[in-house]
Amino acid sequence: MEFSCVRIAQRNLARSKKRSDPAVDLEDRNILVKDADIWNGKGFARGSIFIQEGRINRIARSIIDTGVETIDAAGFKALPGFIDVHVHLRDMELAYKEDFATGTAAAAAGGFTTVLDMPNTVPPTDSARRVIEKQKVAAQKTHVNVGFHAAAVSDSHDVESLAGAGAFSLKLYMPKPIVPFDVENDQAIQKMMRAAGDAGMPVTVHAEDVDAPKNTSQGEGFEEAAEARPPIFETRAVDRLLRIQKKAGCNVHYCHLTLRSSLMKINASTKSTSEVTPHHLLLSKQLLSSLGWRAWMVPPLRSEETRRSLLKSTLAGLSSVIASDHAPHTIKEKNQSASRSPPGVPGLETTLPLMLTLVNRQQMSISLLVKLLSENPARIFGFKSKAKLQKGADGDVVLVDLKKKSKIDSSRFFSKAKFSPFDEFKTQGAVHSTIVGGKVVYREGEIVTREGSGSVLHSGFSG
Ligand code: DOR
Ligand code: ZN
Ligand code: ZN
Repeated sequence: MEFSCVRIAQRNLARSKKRSDPAVDLEDRNILVKDADIWNGKGFARGSIFIQEGRINRIARSIIDTGVETIDAAGFKALPGFIDVHVHLRDMELAYKEDFATGTAAAAAGGFTTVLDMPNTVPPTDSARRVIEKQKVAAQKTHVNVGFHAAAVSDSHDVESLAGAGAFSLKLYMPKPIVPFDVENDQAIQKMMRAAGDAGMPVTVHAEDVDAPKNTSQGEGFEEAAEARPPIFETRAVDRLLRIQKKAGCNVHYCHLTLRSSLMKINASTKSTSEVTPHHLLLSKQLLSSLGWRAWMVPPLRSEETRRSLLKSTLAGLSSVIASDHAPHTIKEKNQSASRSPPGVPGLETTLPLMLTLVNRQQMSISLLVKLLSENPARIFGFKSKAKLQKGADGDVVLVDLKKKSKIDSSRFFSKAKFSPFDEFKTQGAVHSTIVGGKVVYREGEIVTREGSGSVLHSGFSG
């Protein structure tokens, strides 16, 4: 099949529908997905999806003769596009680690049609001007829908303008604030949370109460480095932030939690949502002795017992979201002593195959998978027309071959970070193709769109 390579003008879904050549763009966003098993929110029903001008126009048992590009999806499951709310796409001055093109190619290959980028870049995403700058650069390069988190800042006017620029959250990175921020000061956090709440924007937090420098292990191994950031750091930070959040009254999304107790507390608190990662669900710290830097991230891997209880709790429905925390670095940077090795592992291309493997083992239902990777992310970050396959929704669809067996092989990643703690893992369930806004972006191992065919998303918070 021929894939059109016309240059497509950028879209801004939330704000405007301006295109430099609307006719070409719209035509390019018509597709018929034929004879798939379509997820309807409860189960699968065989049928076809007609996407017109980037939106789902019709779903029916049989749709014929639409005169548009057709994709034969017999034997595949059609699921709503997955949304990864926690990725580090880097770019700008850290483009040597990853850029918007490679990071979003990795997203498409992993079944993610929408991603939200973290602000700890160079320069950091800490002002409306820098949000807009990233949006502009990303518009030329992205393959999927991409939006931006901003750094937590102390000035309430800056919070307002970040919301106005379309940032999706204020990210508070407790161990080492992205921009100067008095993380020790409850009042400062409360003020920032209140300003975010006033602007209608959630706060996202890396909740780890690291009391540096006594816990930084100079030159020691990765196991020691992990021991130096024990679970109590998370407990302390979560307890403290929940207390502050209650006073501030804003929405807080707790990133990459590792403890069942954190999930329980967050469940008991209104306006709080929880996120877990595949690595904390599936790997434990014993692996650090053999995998070293390949399995080094923060928060670090936990004991096998802690991991099991996190997985069990997530499978029981206690987590709101699964996110990859895709955190690419070069192998040269990673392959150093623990004190020098930057934490973080790529995850965009491993998350879905790993979770589909849990589905095949009947540990996770499709319904829970869709909740954790699409519905809840959409609800929390305000994507009203995503996460559902129905008339009028955005044409973001992933076709999955649930039976396909493969092995994780980081050398084949689209990400620049060609390593993974999951290398050699056997998986069952793979992405066949990824459709973003009615356009096939990824198909059977290949990216088939030009850079810049995806959209930049604005939060639409009032500011
Ligand atoms: O492992 C991590 N890597 N944890 C973080 O919080 C930051 C991230 C990164 O940016 O590399
Ligand atoms: Zn983090
Ligand atoms: Zn992160």
